[in-house]
Amino acid sequence: MLQVEELSVRYGQVRALEGVSFEARDGRITTVLGANGAGKTTLLRTLSGLVRNQAGTARFDGQPLTGRRPEIIARMGVAHVPEGRGVIAELTVDENLRLGTFSRLRRVERRAAVDEVYERFPQLGDRRRRSASTLSGGERQMLVIGRALVSRPRLLLLDEPSLGLSPIVSAQMMATLRELTSEAGLGAVLVEQNARSALSVADWAIVLNLGRIVVADEPARLAADESLRRHYLGF
Ligand SMILES: Nc1ncnc2c1ncn2[C@@H]1O[C@H](COP(=O)(O)OP(=O)(O)O)[C@@H](O)[C@H]1O
Ligand SMILES: [Mg+2]
Repeated sequence: MLQVEELSVRYGQVRALEGVSFEARDGRITTVLGANGAGKTTLLRTLSGLVRNQAGTARFDGQPLTGRRPEIIARMGVAHVPEGRGVIAELTVDENLRLGTFSRLRRVERRAAVDEVYERFPQLGDRRRRSASTLSGGERQMLVIGRALVSRPRLLLLDEPSLGLSPIVSAQMMATLRELTSEAGLGAVLVEQNARSALSVADWAIVLNLGRIVVADEPARLAADESLRRHYLGF
C-alpha cells in the first residue's frame, strides 16, 4: 500500500531523514519509534506533502506521494493526524467532525460519515452538542482521529497520539486503532515515543535514530531486545 524508498529530507544543514525505506500495508499498524529529534514528525509531514524531500520516493498504491500537494495526497486517501490534538475549542464536537467532511459534495454522505464516527466512538456521540473544549485528553484524541476518518481514508498517519495521555487512556486508544485497522482494513503509520504501548499493538516496528533506520522487525522481537530498548526505546 505505502512504499517508501531511500527517502532523505534536510532542513538547511540539518539532515532530518537519510535513506529511509519501509512498507506499510492495509489492515496493519506500522509503528515508527525513536527519541525526540529522530525524524518521526518529518517522515509523516513528508508523506502528507507538507515537507519536500531531497531524495527518494514514497508511493501509495503505486502512485507517487512525493512531489504532490497536501490536498491531492489527502484526496488519494492518506489522512494525517498531527501531534497535539488540535481541535477548534469554540466549536462543538459535531461541528469539528463536520469540518472534516468539506471535501464531500453530498450532504447525506457527509452526515453518514459523521454518524459512522459516533458508532465507532460512542463517547463522542454522547457529547456531540458540547463544545470541544469540554473534552478530556482521550476524547480529544478520538475527535482528531474521527475528523480524519470522516474523509474515509485508507491510510492514517498518526503523530504521537498517546503523548500526555494516562497509560489506561493510551491503551484504550491503541485498542481502538487495532480495531480500525483489523476490522475496517485501514493501514496505519503510528509514530510514537511511547514505544511500549505502540509495540503492544503494532504489526511491524521501525526504529529511527538521527534520521536513519536502526532496525526494522517484529514488535515482539524489538520488545525482547534489552540493549535496543535501553539505547533507543527508553524502557
Ligand atoms: N522546520 C524545521 N526547521 C529546521 N529543523 C527542523 C525543523 N523541523 C524539525 N527539524 C529538525 O529535524 C530533526 C528531526 O525532527 P523531527 O522530525 O521533529 O523529529 P521527531 O518528530 O522524531 O522528534 C531534528 O533535528 C529537528 O531539530
Ligand atoms: Mg515529532
